[in-house]
Amino acid sequence: MSIPFPICRPVTLAALAGLSFGVSAHAAGDPIRGAQAARTCIACHSFAPGRNMTGPSLAGVWGRKAGTADGFARYSEALKQSGLVWDEQHLDAWLKNPAALVPGTTMTFPGIADARTRADLLAYLKAVSSGRVSVPDRGPPNLKQADASSRVTSMRYCGDTYRVTTADRKTYAFWEFNLRFKTDGSADGPAAGKPVIVHTGMQGDRATVIFSRPDEISGFIRRECTR
Ligand code: HEC
Repeated sequence: MSIPFPICRPVTLAALAGLSFGVSAHAAGDPIRGAQAARTCIACHSFAPGRNMTGPSLAGVWGRKAGTADGFARYSEALKQSGLVWDEQHLDAWLKNPAALVPGTTMTFPGIADARTRADLLAYLKAVSSGRVSVPDRGPPNLKQADASSRVTSMRYCGDTYRVTTADRKTYAFWEFNLRFKTDGSADGPAAGKPVIVHTGMQGDRATVIFSRPDEISGFIRRECTR
């Protein structure tokens, strides 16, 4: 499972200036506009090598066989079996309508109808894949460095309520429905036995506690009703 931090991966636009690729017989995409258009992808994809999220890292996708990004364990059978190679023609068809190109894909993305925007995105994907444009790997914050207000030292459960105490000695009470548990086993995840709380939601009534592994969760929570 991964953490839904808002992630921003701006590319050095200066590095893209001057790069232009003929991506189709009709239109040459503009990688700078493509970088802007790629904002719709970064909720699910990183362009940094090796950083897999909801979707696989798109670093080096140009020319790669579909379904083969290193370390990505959630490909659909449909994509793995597709036999596609990500060249200009197939990437264009994919971005136009993923489910039409690969029925059964789990990329829940409606597609981009505008041919110009697709050409721009292709130019950007090619630029990133060529390695000529470096994409800073600004991933989610490293939870091992969470500050005292986020480091969970104990959790109690009573009735319908969790009480979460943090390293700055504050205790927060949550209705059980408003507290989520997640795991992050990546290098950015919390250390074993040192979960981290992330407050979510506008009202401050919801939060997520992130553990490093699922088997830590129930052992960490004490069933205790005294306050
Ligand atoms: C809602 C999440 C989501 C969004 C938004 C999204 N993708 Fe994806 N993408 C995925 C998932 C999940 C897969 C794996 C699909 C599968 O296995 O069937 C994928 C797969 C891909 C692949 C195939 C990679 C490979 O290794 O074979 C490409 C290329 C791709 N996405 C490009 C894009 C681009 C470009 C955008 C933005 C225009 C985008 N995606 C937006 C989730 C998303």
